[in-house]
Amino acid sequence: MKISNVIFIITLASFGLIAQENISSPILPSPSFYMEDSEMLSFNQLTIDTNNVNQNTVNFLSKELKKIWGIELIQGGANSLIQFQIDPIKGNGYTLEIKDKITVFGVNDEAQFHGAVSLLQLIEQNSNGYSIQEALVKDEAKFEWRGLHLDVSRHFFTVEEVKRFIDAMTYYKFNKFHWHLTDDQGWRIEIKRYPKLTSIGGQREGTMVGHYSDSPRIFDSIPYSGFYTQEEIRDVVRYAKSRFIEVVPEIELPGHSRAALAAYPEYSCTGNKNPVPQIWGIFDDIYCSKDETIEFMQNILAEVLELFPSEYIHIGGDEAPKTMWKGCNNCQRVMKENGLENEQELQSYFIGKMDKFLTANGRKLIGWDEILEGGLSPNAAVMSWRGEKGGIAAAQQGHYVVMTPTTYCYFDYYQSTHAMEPIAIGGYLPLEKVYKFDPIPKSLTAKEAKFIMGGQANLWTEYILDYSQLEYMTYPRAVALSQCLWSINKPSYESFLSVYLERHESFFRKIQLNFAKSIHYPAVSIKRSPGGIKVKFEGVKGDAPFKIDTYKEEFSDKLNPDQEQFYFLKRSQLTKPLPQIFALNSKDFDKAIKYNFVNHSALGINIDLITPPHPKYNNNGSLNLVDGIFGSTPWKGSEWLGFQDSTVSFILDLEKKQDIQGISIGFLKQNGSWIYLPKSMTMLTSNDKVNWVKTNNNDSVKLQMKEGRCITDFSANTQYIKVVIQSIGIIPEGNEGGGHKPWTFIDEIQIIKGE
Ligand code: ACM
Ligand code: ZN
Repeated sequence: MKISNVIFIITLASFGLIAQENISSPILPSPSFYMEDSEMLSFNQLTIDTNNVNQNTVNFLSKELKKIWGIELIQGGANSLIQFQIDPIKGNGYTLEIKDKITVFGVNDEAQFHGAVSLLQLIEQNSNGYSIQEALVKDEAKFEWRGLHLDVSRHFFTVEEVKRFIDAMTYYKFNKFHWHLTDDQGWRIEIKRYPKLTSIGGQREGTMVGHYSDSPRIFDSIPYSGFYTQEEIRDVVRYAKSRFIEVVPEIELPGHSRAALAAYPEYSCTGNKNPVPQIWGIFDDIYCSKDETIEFMQNILAEVLELFPSEYIHIGGDEAPKTMWKGCNNCQRVMKENGLENEQELQSYFIGKMDKFLTANGRKLIGWDEILEGGLSPNAAVMSWRGEKGGIAAAQQGHYVVMTPTTYCYFDYYQSTHAMEPIAIGGYLPLEKVYKFDPIPKSLTAKEAKFIMGGQANLWTEYILDYSQLEYMTYPRAVALSQCLWSINKPSYESFLSVYLERHESFFRKIQLNFAKSIHYPAVSIKRSPGGIKVKFEGVKGDAPFKIDTYKEEFSDKLNPDQEQFYFLKRSQLTKPLPQIFALNSKDFDKAIKYNFVNHSALGINIDLITPPHPKYNNNGSLNLVDGIFGSTPWKGSEWLGFQDSTVSFILDLEKKQDIQGISIGFLKQNGSWIYLPKSMTMLTSNDKVNWVKTNNNDSVKLQMKEGRCITDFSANTQYIKVVIQSIGIIPEGNEGGGHKPWTFIDEIQIIKGE
């Protein structure tokens, strides 16, 4: 038995028989072992014995206790309430023992620090003061790389904001801050030898507003700038280090380099001067592979090494189109002189030069998984973002890997499908999915798995406009991620969720962190019911029941939900649709959550979908088209039905013969996402579903769009209406998805009735 185990068991024994195991730890990420005693340790002030502990940890505790809990930490002697011990055993773990005293055992400063972080989460405030549940915690990290990445190029964050970001990382035991300092839309780090990098490359004349896939795209013309001086960088690195977080800088090459090339066009293939772009995306203009550029990049890296003592330096390597290299005399000459077969090998050559430079300076290179293409440099580590593939290949070749696959780790994705979510890049990554992340791909052998250093979430900021939104996108997803990276005994999602809801949301409120409430947005269930629809709103466990606060009488016969908590919404008999906001109130929200419904005379009618929706975009089938919910933009999926056939047809059943004046259909136009308005529509009516009459003389009606809806007027007395929609067939070349079939997305169909 190791000495640590002996100590541990002796400590356990002192907890007596009443101690309860298998209680969920209030600490997140969950410790490897947690056991509660029945008593609470109460106090009004805290004293600390500063022997056996680094002054840095004392300063941290003192500052945080004051900031979070308003507790003054008093330096006392051997009788102090908080004691630290050096644990004689090697490892990175800490033990936290809370009885009549609080003792933090740690093998080194870092372990003790992590023990102190856990202590901060255990404090409870009550009317008489403070208390901590008596408990025994034994804990150590599962992975050595527990990272968060931040893109400061697309949107800039001040030193103060970066420090706040680091503070929050500290509470959840992250230890790598990947600082994405350069990209097309802005160069953000002062390089003394090349001042134009920041004076020209650090500014753009405007920024895209709205979504990339909007058409037309919209730009503001507000100059946008920002960079960190070397002194500020040193300050951030020091600050992070005092929290045992290493800052890993990223200097992107050879792609995502438009900001640098705006300042120094001589290092591009053409030499043409182009402005710092205002639009997001991938650009053909990248660094040229000639010797002068290699020297330029190495000079930049030389200054970067002075500022960042990190073991790894990130050189990007992703998304570098080879278009320019193919037509560049310099690049082609370098390929010939070095016997390189293709431009992928040229990229390897370029990155190899950086690898040699970093290695010669005692550092290691890390890059996005594209650096595998054309051959991996001997010392390079890989950050696998396009799924697990790159990470698997690298580990099998004996290279170190950080896993950051988009599926689990891209925190710029939407975290719910609720219309209240701010515009995001796309994708869908709810909390529960993050929780499923395992950095070790199943296909690796145990030996290969040793090359997986850990994982990381990335915060790309095209659509993260300010610090408050950055927190919103990061939390609580980063808490779920910390479970995947730190916790050796990761509890079930349900168990994690109760601890998170019970303890950590209030913690976030206390530290004024703008965490996302997305998990509380009630899921809406809708079903057909004779004469209308039934609707239910369900939050997460523990949420107060949601109550519809505002509605118009016309919408419902009754105020009360049925036994299963479904509200009945009665189909409108009015000629005009009736927009209606349901405000749901719950203690978990500062203000009501709003759901927009539109009542209309087709609410909940039966629809026979002759063309099935594509399975990927089929939420609730035909009911989606008459559920009172209009689609929001940009499109997030669930409010729309998506079709990929060139002809889409369906039959509406109005239940009885009625006088109608036309129909209105909502189509989505988002050409950047291959979603197009149709070319034409044909409408037919029938009273027996056998004999159909065209509603007008032409084969098809010209679409008349008004506020995103296509309104077709025709008079008929009918029970059935057949709608046949023709898409434009093929997306014209020169557009996103050119040559492919377009998508047709429909949100809601309404019947227009006579006055
Ligand atoms: C990346 O998301 N382009 C690494
Ligand atoms: Zn070139």
